[in-house]
Amino acid sequence: MSRILLGVSGGVAAYKALEFIRLATGAGHLVRVILTPAAERFVGRASFEALSGAPALISEFERDPLRGAFPGEPPPAHTPISHLELVAKAELLLVAPATANTLAKLAHGHADNLLSSAALAARCPLLVAPAMNNRMYEHPATRANLELLRARGVELAEPGAGRLASVGEEGIGRLAEPAALLERCEALLGAGAREWRGLHVLVTAGGTREPIDSVRYLGNRSSGRMGLELARAAHRRGAQVVLVAANVSLASPDGVARRDVTTTAELQRVCEEEFERCELLLMSAAVADYRPAAPAAGKLKKAGRERVELELEATPDVLSGLAARRRPGQTLVGFAAEHGPDAVALAREKLALKELDALVVNDISRSDIGFDAQDNEVTVLTSAQERHVPRAAKAAVAEAILDVVAALRAEGA
Ligand code: CTP
Repeated sequence: MSRILLGVSGGVAAYKALEFIRLATGAGHLVRVILTPAAERFVGRASFEALSGAPALISEFERDPLRGAFPGEPPPAHTPISHLELVAKAELLLVAPATANTLAKLAHGHADNLLSSAALAARCPLLVAPAMNNRMYEHPATRANLELLRARGVELAEPGAGRLASVGEEGIGRLAEPAALLERCEALLGAGAREWRGLHVLVTAGGTREPIDSVRYLGNRSSGRMGLELARAAHRRGAQVVLVAANVSLASPDGVARRDVTTTAELQRVCEEEFERCELLLMSAAVADYRPAAPAAGKLKKAGRERVELELEATPDVLSGLAARRRPGQTLVGFAAEHGPDAVALAREKLALKELDALVVNDISRSDIGFDAQDNEVTVLTSAQERHVPRAAKAAVAEAILDVVAALRAEGA
């Protein structure tokens, strides 16, 4: 049983979305529906409500009587913003049918109705099922939008060829059949959940901060986004995830246990506590290599000094410390921020030096990826292979990293 959020946009094929709900609820899934205003002109909301057993929403400005809950589940005590609550709870967002207009909005990040806003806030996998006239489907603008979505890690349920809605017209653009859509949904939901069920995964995210005095610190620009996406992806595969978050202001994914830390010493203490239990460590935190040797207790005063020297001492290498205590069956993955053309060669040395199973390398000489950016592009090194993951959203990059790790663990099993 999974929570599927179904987005229906305004095309003739909207009637097939009803059949999808019938099949999905029949298979035990919980379905909530968001319609675009145009969809309602094709199929009334009463049919969607009857089949899903819950209110179907259209506007950002209407209240959701279930306050974002799925059918049969208790609504939260507070009154959340309905589309944010719905997508936060959903395990999958399916947009079917996706018209050319809705595809364009999804590709370009518009948020001008409840469905496009919800899609923008979605952290769960997104499956998009286009349906439109063949000339619209084949138009370069639509093709480019589909490519954009694909590159961002969005799953596409390709339309079929055959009779189209306009009398006498044939071609590509028919919505994938509801049964096939349900199969795709279940594959996306289930593939993960089966794979890592019960596996204990420890993820570190963010960047440590080392105090200079009571108000100042040495830190770095890591937002923790990559680590959060790794935690989310591992959780989606069924793992029990503990996230050690170093100064991460972003919210963590539902279902992930979070422990907040500030300094490298705290990160080390918490990681040592959690390490014993974990079978997979994803060490994505940017850990300070040095810290002020003697942080001041209060706030340092200028006191007319032109220059101040800050003495730094090395921090412990947390990952190497954990690697030294590893037991059989544990997989250790490090993350390296390297600069320029030698990035991969330097990282290969680090892989051996730190005795890791895999090392994920980021080239930080580029400003469009990595630190604090939405996207990333990495190379995953193992002793036997080198897999380049082209630039994509961090959520998609996280999935690709976990695919390499899953293959590695399967080899070792
Ligand atoms: N790491 C760690 N403790 C530290 C520094 C780094 O656990 N004090 C971990 C990071 O979380 C990362 C891996 O080690 O997973 C590689 O980090 P990186 O800073 O690239 O490696 P360093 O050994 O610090 O090498 P460099 O001299 O290139 O900074």
